[in-house]
Amino acid sequence: MPDDANPPQPPRVILCLGQNCNADGAADPLYAQLQAVLNAHDVFDPPFTLRSANCLDMYEFGPNAVIHPGHIRCNGLDADGLAQVLDRYVFAEKNID
Ligand code: FES
Repeated sequence: MPDDANPPQPPRVILCLGQNCNADGAADPLYAQLQAVLNAHDVFDPPFTLRSANCLDMYEFGPNAVIHPGHIRCNGLDADGLAQVLDRYVFAEKNID
């Protein structure tokens, strides 16, 4: 049961579009993938949030993202890796395929 003092936090994904993570355009399609996922599956209330960042201070491992709540750091993302972390950390509790 939700606690009024600590309401559930909606998922928030911050994708790095910084010069190292996106040097060869590798992160741009991931952002588009996240936007598509939001449009298809945003069943959260309050809604899922997507943000970009210029650097998440782990540039040597990019493309990178951080998922909240939990401050889950995701490194070396590609389309399949992003889909897996979204399934595992964002949609698992909602039982969304
Ligand atoms: S440029 Fe992506 S973490 Fe710094």
